Amino acid sequence: MEKDFVWGVATAAIQIEGGLYEGGKGESIWDVLAHTPGRIRYNENADVSCDHYHHYKEDVKLMGELGVDAYRFSIAWPRIFTNGFGEPNEEGLQFYSDLVDELLKYNITPYVTLFHWDLPLEVFRKGGWLNDEIVEWFANYTRVVAERLGDRVKNFITFNEPQCIIGGMDGWGHAPAVRYSTKDKLLAVHNILKSHGRAVQVLRETVKDVKVGYAPCANPFFPKDDSPEQLELARKAYFSLHLMSNFYNVILYSDPIFFGDYPKEYYEMFKGDIPNITKEDLELISQPLDFYGQNIYWGGSVSPCDNEAGFKEDPLYQGYPRTTMGQPVMPQVIYWGARFLYERYKTPIIITENGAACMDWVHLDGKVHDPQRIDYIKRYTNELLRAKDEGIDVRGYFNWSFIDNFEWDNGYDPRLGLVYVDYRTQERIPKDSFYFYRDLIKDYKEKNK
Ligand code: GCO
Repeated sequence: MEKDFVWGVATAAIQIEGGLYEGGKGESIWDVLAHTPGRIRYNENADVSCDHYHHYKEDVKLMGELGVDAYRFSIAWPRIFTNGFGEPNEEGLQFYSDLVDELLKYNITPYVTLFHWDLPLEVFRKGGWLNDEIVEWFANYTRVVAERLGDRVKNFITFNEPQCIIGGMDGWGHAPAVRYSTKDKLLAVHNILKSHGRAVQVLRETVKDVKVGYAPCANPFFPKDDSPEQLELARKAYFSLHLMSNFYNVILYSDPIFFGDYPKEYYEMFKGDIPNITKEDLELISQPLDFYGQNIYWGGSVSPCDNEAGFKEDPLYQGYPRTTMGQPVMPQVIYWGARFLYERYKTPIIITENGAACMDWVHLDGKVHDPQRIDYIKRYTNELLRAKDEGIDVRGYFNWSFIDNFEWDNGYDPRLGLVYVDYRTQERIPKDSFYFYRDLIKDYKEKNK
């Protein structure tokens, strides 16, 4: 892949598209959740959202003004296959094909995410990630997308945050918001990883010069001081299963891919609940990748502790700076995340998401002033570029998000975009941070000519 640093913005299908039943699109588990009273803040839904389905030309034009090198968006599986399998839906394919053409007009490189959580409802009804057949359904979907877009799209990301797919299996928050047992969650993880592996194979077979990545998340830990003990402890905590219900961590979803096996802790911790794992499965899962994407927002620090994990998370001081989603503002996590991940997995890193929810509204002068977001982006990109300057192979940064959008179970309340949306009129207003990010990219390019 190109050695240059890629500056981009990111979105996901259901968060921006709208056009719920248009162009032959089927329902996803998120559409169902969004229509279930009480599940989404203020009972909002994603039926229309930013109506990007109809406004994509205007949106891409704005991206052109922003001057980004790349745009990361996801494909809605139920737009390509109404039910998730069967006959592909031509209108859905055409929509993404047109979007790609539009991006290329402005010299913007598309980064396509194949799965950003909108599982087709019918696939869910057939067991979803618990049904082994999903691996081939997903492979088939991947093949159809790759055949249609692969002449123009070279960068693909298989899965976004598998951690949050499993997070939806706790009975609240994310779709399907159904409670699964530990045993079922482990089976789902295994089928996600197998689907990832099959998708990588299909992409390599179908797309010439393809670059394939993956975009998990997890909260990085950073050392509190310069001591070797702290460095070791932060690393240990980051690469541990002993975090947030044992399913929100990085190694469960990455060790099998890069090392060809689950971590040792996995076999000890989950004993009786582990699915049948064959040598062939592990070979399938561990297809080589071109880049390792990572969504990084916040994390923490740890202290030694005499418990099973050997560490405990430090509480944050009272009044810690936070975004309007309550996420702590901790720019050092992006430096340590990139550094620790590169050290462990030795694969070029791309930050596939990072951004802040701020209190944005249209001011009396008709503009949207968002100094907090500007400061946030400055701080985080400085830390990322510090990692790069130290020789860590970081290849890009995608800001989340290009535009305000449907923030899952939080509805439209958090605004994370560089572009403001008036959801009544679908008017787009670039925020101050839009112009800041534009200049940051321009300056970077000037300096690195
Ligand atoms: C995630 C998703 C995005 C979110 C973003 C802000 O990380 O949860 O990939 O879809 O919208 O992270 O929370």
